[in-house]
Amino acid sequence: MAKRTSVHGFWSTRLAFILAAAGSAVGLGNIWRFPYIVGDNGGGAFVLVYLICVVAIGLPIMMSEIMLGRRGRRSPINTMRLLSEEESGSRYWQLVGWMGVIAGFLILSFYSVIAGASLHYTSLSIQAGFSGIDSAEATAIWERFTGSWQWMLFWHTAFLSLTVYVVGRGVQRGLERLVRLLMPMLLILLLAMVGYGIAQANFAEAFSYLFRPDFSALSANAVLIAVGQAFFTLSLGMGAIMAYGAYLPENVSIGRTAGGVVVADTFVALLAGLAIFPIVFAFEGVSPGAGPGLVFQSLPIAFGQMPGGILFGTLFFLLLVFAAWTSSISLMEPAVAWVVENMGLSRVAAAASVGGIIWFLGIGTVLSFNLWSEITFLAGTVFDNVESLADNILLPLGGLLIAIFAGWVMSRASTAEELGMGVGLGYKLWLFFIRFVAPLAVIIAFLHALGVFDG
Ligand code: PFF
Ligand code: NA
Repeated sequence: MAKRTSVHGFWSTRLAFILAAAGSAVGLGNIWRFPYIVGDNGGGAFVLVYLICVVAIGLPIMMSEIMLGRRGRRSPINTMRLLSEEESGSRYWQLVGWMGVIAGFLILSFYSVIAGASLHYTSLSIQAGFSGIDSAEATAIWERFTGSWQWMLFWHTAFLSLTVYVVGRGVQRGLERLVRLLMPMLLILLLAMVGYGIAQANFAEAFSYLFRPDFSALSANAVLIAVGQAFFTLSLGMGAIMAYGAYLPENVSIGRTAGGVVVADTFVALLAGLAIFPIVFAFEGVSPGAGPGLVFQSLPIAFGQMPGGILFGTLFFLLLVFAAWTSSISLMEPAVAWVVENMGLSRVAAAASVGGIIWFLGIGTVLSFNLWSEITFLAGTVFDNVESLADNILLPLGGLLIAIFAGWVMSRASTAEELGMGVGLGYKLWLFFIRFVAPLAVIIAFLHALGVFDG
């Protein structure tokens, strides 16, 4: 097949792609979301199901998204349309791209609000706002912030502007350098926090909470949440990794690259759990089930007590902002690339328009914490519903369709050529997982959540 080229440019090296993909993967999903959904779903058994999903569903689908992106070399919507025409003679598979853009809008609308909270916490930490606080005060700080829609909206606007700015400039310029510097720093700080956790008397309790499975604590819905978290944390099912794959040079091993990203993301999530739960168990009044406020109500207590806590706290929340930043640009990229390709807008104009829509949607999340906190239906508040629709339904559904397309619709000749790892054991394993294991796991999780296996 004649090789296509990308109108949006390319990553300069394989390492640049790995950093960008790892930058997309490592984010609020690891440090904010992973600990609190583990807490909501009872600990070790949930973690085990999640780890199985990462390996059995996440890795093969990540390889597929990179492979599809590189083969199509354009925005996910247009890549899926092109490959759909080539491989099936119809255009219907572009639907996957459209669903992904919708999922990306929804996710970024709340992601930006939470990242905005991290910005707010960075500024609180600089002002020594956590010095000597106890858990009641930490909760009060969180409630004071979420109680003010004005402040939430302010920080949401600030964070989204940062995202629009970088996406408008082009992903490669500046970002490659930024991630290269920031990802190692985040890792070092997390390790330091785990060190602090180990020094807490109840580290063993936290460790067994995370790693000792108690299957009686696992609800049917928890399995779907674990599947959804595997997609969310690895940036899969909506085309973010597909969009990045479109800028990947030829001759890069997709299998090893995807493996590296999956390992890095999983490592950071587990470290975040090991840093946060010892603090949660150490202080009366913070419970694992605190929900979306968990990180914000637990870590500041520790920062307020440790020597150098102002510096550590500030750095930590700042790096959380950066981790969220490198993820949020990838949430926007599929839509922006499509607007550039199809509507002839400049990147700057495309990013600003897409950002405007997402900013507006984000107001729903902002109000869910205050003026609309009493309005609940289905999964809970507006924010809870946006989050669970996107993470637990749209991403797994997108991933299911991607797996079916890559495994069943595309010819083996095409997938083998693009994955570039021959047709030996590695390829056969990928094919088996993408054809059977990943789709069945997602379908079973959906049916399980619908109660099909009850009684
Ligand atoms: N993977 C990111 C995280 O764990 O924070 C969130 C995310 C980014 C989800 C990009 C989906 C996506 F396409
Ligand atoms: Na992640």
